[in-house]
Amino acid sequence: MEKKTYYITTPIYYPSANLHIGNTYTTVAADAIARFKRLTGFEVMFLTGSDEHGQKIQRIAEEKGVTPKAYVDEIVAGIKDLWKLMDISYDKFIRTTDEYHKEAVQKMVTQLFDQGDIYKGAYEGWYCTPDESFWTETQLVDGKCPDCGRAVERTKEEAYFFKMSKYADRLIEYIEAHPHFIQPESRKNEMLNNFLRPGLQDLCISRSTFSWGIPLEFDPKHVIYVWIDALSNYITALGYGQQDNEMFKKFWPADVHLVGKDILRFHTIYWPIMLMALELPLPKQVFGHGWLLSDSGKMSKSKGNIVDPIVLVNHFGVDAVRYFLLRGIPFGSDGLFSNEIFIKKINSDLANDLGNLVSRTVAMIEKYFDGVIQPPTAKEEIDNELISLALNLPKEVERAIEDLRIPEALDKIWDLVGRSNKYIDETTPWILAKDEEKKERLGTVLYNLSESLRFVAVILTAFLPQTSEKIVEQLNIEVTSWDSIASFDGTRAGSKVKKGEVMFPRIDVEAKLEELDKLRQTLVVENIKPTMEPLKKEITIEDFEKIDLRVVKVISCEPVKGAKKLLKLKVDLGGEERQVISGVAQYYKPEELVGKFLIIVANLKPVTLRGELSQGMIIAAANEDENKLMAVTIVGELPTGSGVR
Ligand code: MSP
Repeated sequence: MEKKTYYITTPIYYPSANLHIGNTYTTVAADAIARFKRLTGFEVMFLTGSDEHGQKIQRIAEEKGVTPKAYVDEIVAGIKDLWKLMDISYDKFIRTTDEYHKEAVQKMVTQLFDQGDIYKGAYEGWYCTPDESFWTETQLVDGKCPDCGRAVERTKEEAYFFKMSKYADRLIEYIEAHPHFIQPESRKNEMLNNFLRPGLQDLCISRSTFSWGIPLEFDPKHVIYVWIDALSNYITALGYGQQDNEMFKKFWPADVHLVGKDILRFHTIYWPIMLMALELPLPKQVFGHGWLLSDSGKMSKSKGNIVDPIVLVNHFGVDAVRYFLLRGIPFGSDGLFSNEIFIKKINSDLANDLGNLVSRTVAMIEKYFDGVIQPPTAKEEIDNELISLALNLPKEVERAIEDLRIPEALDKIWDLVGRSNKYIDETTPWILAKDEEKKERLGTVLYNLSESLRFVAVILTAFLPQTSEKIVEQLNIEVTSWDSIASFDGTRAGSKVKKGEVMFPRIDVEAKLEELDKLRQTLVVENIKPTMEPLKKEITIEDFEKIDLRVVKVISCEPVKGAKKLLKLKVDLGGEERQVISGVAQYYKPEELVGKFLIIVANLKPVTLRGELSQGMIIAAANEDENKLMAVTIVGELPTGSGVR
């Protein structure tokens, strides 16, 4: 019989930064699912890779004074090393700079052009370079990218557009008819209500103001928009649009695209519409997981709050990190990472629960039977609960993984670990050992514990492969197939256990936290360089002179009702009183501004904000993330209304 197939993908990563533990999360989760599917008999294709084109990469390379290709080659090598360290069992790593991918993407886009789905026009709007995404004026939030909150750039260029709007109704119908297509459920509603139902605009799919990308076959001055290029990887990696497309026939449609919630929109709107236009089946599911947060919000390089997975692995071992990511974060929601939460979880679940169970079991077999596992000949009623929990476990874990409830799969495994520890307390082997007549019962108890650990080890090959191997070695387990855990008798009586190193030594929380804190300071200094918003387009002195900047003095200041961010200022401008509404409430208390000399743009057309007239704009300086903002003032005093130039 042919094996069932399973195709799982992670996003392909931008080689623009050292990957942090947040990025690592998607890949570790996908790896656990892929390993589990292999274990349970599927032929698996697990794809990951790197997303190497686009304006962002071109800029970084320019800053470093190297070619984009030289830059990405070096970073991609680092990404592969990281996956090796994290035990990621991918079957294929695609690079969007691979020739086969570039050719296949060109062909796809040409087909869409030939069939009339792509037309030429001009793009005018905003562009978020870090996210490589287009936005209209009305979509911006406080003039920033609504997804990541960073600065956007005004973009105006000749471009090609994809008629997304033509397919929007079909996609809405599809999503409604396939309730599992977008998961979790809440994200489905967000996509429908925030993006699809209000009406889809056609998508700009080419750029002509930089060159690092795949040129359009029919107009090579343009490079293909990086998201169109990147999303296509899921099929070009399988040979789509190439001579040998056996893999495509075998694995497409994908069973699941696993992505972070920030890029769900691209995967559940652009990508399905591209596939519809190419008359290809849609992936069975797109799952948008949550973010790893640290105390200061979403972990991201630009915030400087990242945790380096390599440092964690060096201190705690790869399985401790995998374990925390897989069980410590509710899959589908955001989860908090801090060194303290992490270490405490490792101490309680890995050192105490699992580690102790293994070392106690092995130590008792060594102590009471010279390391030889005895046959289970003296069964008792009390064993049944443990045995039936073990026998139910494979199904329970299978069901949880089927729905991508990864932490629950681990909860179930730890139920058996916990039950086994309790079984030791109930059966008190050290008391049985004192009575020669109870020797057979003692052997049975230890057999049951070994067998229970065999179940744990077999299932853990998917989640914590190195730990599983250590248990297999220490207990000298001979059968580790999935089928072998359908019955509670796979441990071979007569085989000899071997005590090994302590799998998870207990960590001294305080000492370790101090050590990591010191390290973090050095890491921050080394890794995070200040970032600056890109400079705007050059202007002439005449352009600048159109802006009338004046000195004002703040007469009074109060909050604007119902608007958390706004303050209402009355200012004196050369004897004239003006009202200015300003979004500085997060940074200043009203009384802090009264009496201050500030600079305003005095000839800005008045607007009404939250029902209040604003006759000017205060000039302020802010860092890129806008978590620091300071109003510009003058050193000394001048009559109000004085010009600023
Ligand atoms: N290149 C695009 C994906 C193209 S897929 C056709 C991209 N790359 S990325 O490197 O920025 O992000 C890779 C993955 O890391 C995404 O799934 C993203 O959601 C995830 N994460 C980035 N920061 C994260 C956290 N703090 N927490 C969890 N996941 C996070 O997007």
